[in-house]
Amino acid sequence: MTVTDNRPKSDNRPLTLQDIGCKDEALLNDWHVVGYSTDFESGRPYSVTLLGRDLAVWRDSTGELHVWEDLCIHRGARLSGGTIINNQIACPYHGWRYNTEAKCTLIPSAPRDKPMAKARAFPWAVQERYGFAWVCLGDPANDVPAFPQWDDEAQKKVHAGPFEFGANGYRALENFVDITHFPFVHSGINGDPDNPDEIHPYSVEMTDEGLVTSEIPVFQPIGDSRGRPTISGYTYRIQRPLVAAFTKRLFDVDENHRPISDDVNYFTVYATAQLVSETHSIIRTCVAVTKEGAVSDQTIKDRVTMVFTQDEAIVGTQRPERIPAELRYELHHRNDLLAQQYRSWLRSLGITYGVI
Ligand code: FES
Ligand SMILES: [Fe+2]
Repeated sequence: MTVTDNRPKSDNRPLTLQDIGCKDEALLNDWHVVGYSTDFESGRPYSVTLLGRDLAVWRDSTGELHVWEDLCIHRGARLSGGTIINNQIACPYHGWRYNTEAKCTLIPSAPRDKPMAKARAFPWAVQERYGFAWVCLGDPANDVPAFPQWDDEAQKKVHAGPFEFGANGYRALENFVDITHFPFVHSGINGDPDNPDEIHPYSVEMTDEGLVTSEIPVFQPIGDSRGRPTISGYTYRIQRPLVAAFTKRLFDVDENHRPISDDVNYFTVYATAQLVSETHSIIRTCVAVTKEGAVSDQTIKDRVTMVFTQDEAIVGTQRPERIPAELRYELHHRNDLLAQQYRSWLRSLGITYGVI
């Protein structure tokens, strides 16, 4: 694991930290996905927004990724609007240049002056894992959440997304781990609206890897990209406030829901939510599959895209837009045990950004 951390000492952090966006330590000290690794090519800077804060992202000529506050210390112009010259970012306003260590190397109107020591950009810790670009806007308290299937060569990995949600990221994540919406939001695929599954009590445990459920079985008319009916056993994990995964064990079944073989197929989705703002988020996923490895990557992506498009249409309508973390503001059935625990976890972490 390579973590790049050129951050200046805390007495030299930008004023924008006090001005806008998230102030919650639990979120600032966590890792957040801001893109796929393949989104960022060298030779130009990119602009992304995380937790209400503007960031400049660029890949240098050695391939190393940099994520900086999108701010030039001179007069506050956006470095993401600049250009890359000789492996340095040149600010679009007065052309000050910043090298890969975030130090200003040139003030074009005074080329013979050594730039002041405080003439620096504001870099954040960054790493690339599982094909995602992760950034931490504070002091990293944990590593990025585990994705054990990534290292299993028997499982094919396919990235799907990004899925723009005109919705709060916790609401989007909670939807991702919600078992009872399948027959209605994903009718004919993940569930049958005329014969919804009865969900039997399941357990949720807080572990070192976050909240983990026992396996929850449901019938799915088209359980996966192979186009077969299945009984699917879902095990959910909410690993961090904005990272979750499920693994489902799929058994192919006949029209009466009876297994037609002992063969098991595994399908995992690892999902990350980028909180752009309190009410706008971007979901990115990586899917790991066993038998579906025979299906084309595009077929797998198409199915995941269809499911998240159906989800967004509902999650974008939920009100209040910010998630009510106090349980008394919405009604929770025992089937919603995981969501209850998730909201209580957000509260115990002291999270206020995106929460009502
Ligand atoms: S604001 Fe960037 S060089 Fe002046
Ligand atoms: Fe869904």
